[in-house]
Amino acid sequence: MSGFQSSWLALREPVDLRARDGGLMRKAAEWLAVSGAAPLVADLGCGTGATLGAMEPALRDAGCNPRWRLIDNDPALLALAAERAARLGVDAETRCLDLSDAGMIPTGGAALVTASALFDLAAEDFVATLAEALAGAKAALYATLNYDGSTSFSPSHPLDGIVVAGFNRHQLRPKGLGRGASLGPAAARRLATAMKALGYDVELADSPWEVEPEDQKLAAEHIAGMADAVGELGVLDPAEARRLANISARTRRQGAGDGGPPRSPGDSRVGPSLTRSLIRSPRIRSGWRRSSPSVLTRA
Ligand SMILES: C[S@@+](CC[C@H](N)C(=O)[O-])C[C@H]1O[C@@H](n2cnc3c(N)ncnc32)[C@H](O)[C@@H]1O
Repeated sequence: MSGFQSSWLALREPVDLRARDGGLMRKAAEWLAVSGAAPLVADLGCGTGATLGAMEPALRDAGCNPRWRLIDNDPALLALAAERAARLGVDAETRCLDLSDAGMIPTGGAALVTASALFDLAAEDFVATLAEALAGAKAALYATLNYDGSTSFSPSHPLDGIVVAGFNRHQLRPKGLGRGASLGPAAARRLATAMKALGYDVELADSPWEVEPEDQKLAAEHIAGMADAVGELGVLDPAEARRLANISARTRRQGAGDGGPPRSPGDSRVGPSLTRSLIRSPRIRSGWRRSSPSVLTRA
């Protein structure tokens, strides 16, 4: 088990799909179509196969019917990815393995390597080693949805800056893809720099999550995760958080009984729980945007 639940991946898939830059995806498909007969795509950290699903229409339009190698360390997710491939009539094999050592990743024979929502989990050496392997094989890379650290909420709240900065700092914790700290918000930039240095053409496009009130389930889960991350770091001074919550509630009151802040000034459950209640309040968070560039790089 990787810790990525299929229910979470299912929640994010429609928002991811909306976010993907269609132009970049089309270019990846067109590049693959002219790369040779029966090309192979290796999808790293495939989860339930969202990238395969997202790319299918663009590949069909490009007249390309590649084979896929779906790689993940979670057998349950891989089984769902295999089911998806079968449903779509796509020729796919699954490999259940740990990607922690980028030098051991079976990208051999792949014309295109893909990864979605993966590189922000990776460390510096993972990117450097994978970049060398790609260049050695002249493979292209299409890496989407790499969170770049900018999240903005609408309407905004006095705690936004500190919450997002705390979350971004938490993103740097090692996730096991390579050694040491994760690149987190620096991942897309680092990837682009590494590939350019190896003589690759690099194109970047934004693939932002635009989370609307109708995406409440995803918003609630993600924001709870953000609150937990910020709570773990202890970056919010509880007294200051309470003060800001009260100011915010006074200036924003739009009606009673919506279950949001403020908590009473005597409430001792401050810190993470207050933060969570603050940033989860539907009154305060009707929409938000999270920027996640995509990278397409070709030799
Ligand atoms: C955020 S999910 C993205 C899944 C999928 N690419 C998508 O866009 O829906 C990250 C994926 O990477 C996989 N993963 C994380 N660390 C891994 C590791 N060390 N080895 C193999 N897979 C890993 C997880 O199991 C998960 O499926």
